[in-house]
Amino acid sequence: MKGRLSRGNVIFSIFLSQWHFLLYIRGLKNNFVKIKINNKEIDIFEGEKLIEAAHRNGVEIPTLCYAPGYQHQASCMVCVVKNCDTGQIIPSCSTVVAEGMNIDTESDELKDLRRQSLELLLSDHIAVCRPPCEPKNCTLRQYTNTYRAKWNKYLHYSAIKTTPPQHISGNLWFDVTKCIRCGLCVYNSKDGFTFKDRGFGMQVVLPEESVGNVDESLWGICPTQALYRSEPGFLQD
Ligand code: SF4
Ligand code: FES
Repeated sequence: MKGRLSRGNVIFSIFLSQWHFLLYIRGLKNNFVKIKINNKEIDIFEGEKLIEAAHRNGVEIPTLCYAPGYQHQASCMVCVVKNCDTGQIIPSCSTVVAEGMNIDTESDELKDLRRQSLELLLSDHIAVCRPPCEPKNCTLRQYTNTYRAKWNKYLHYSAIKTTPPQHISGNLWFDVTKCIRCGLCVYNSKDGFTFKDRGFGMQVVLPEESVGNVDESLWGICPTQALYRSEPGFLQD
């Protein structure tokens, strides 16, 4: 009935007022700065990363080596955006916003660069996408479709050898042939995953003696199915 508040509306209003209150409190401690994203002016917190500001304001930017709340180092370059004032192409996951920035996230130029980054990453993703590998669980595959990246453009340069998946613990497995070396599992497992070698031959490995240091929840931040969960008894080859 018009003018009558439902229980859901009341709960939502309380949630909204608390959210604005939290934003206000945070704003007291952190200065707000104004920037433009895709010609729309927004207020963001000083010190915030561009990707966080964009996502909080509903602007989609793809990411592979970044996961909110986790340690990361910019490496995949699918999150690139353009600083329209300087003309620089920058990774949004590691760029701290500054007052007056004017950022573009959606031009054809950027889509093209993201496609190239994906094609380079795919050069080391030499595995076949079959169960338990599902498109819905693989961010890499979703972006490959979105940006129409060619999965085999640089595949002949790959130095990764096909090896069987490694059982970690419980239902958790590691398949190096699907790893794009984003580093998320390395930076977020203490004495667990590590990088081996450098350059084209660089690989992510899990030494046998470090298996016990890997938490099964890491599965959730892997952008491919290199870290995957499989029911006991599922055939591994
Ligand atoms: S296993 Fe997954 S999280 Fe770890 S480096 Fe490879 S792609 Fe990234
Ligand atoms: S998400 Fe920014 S470089 Fe990977």
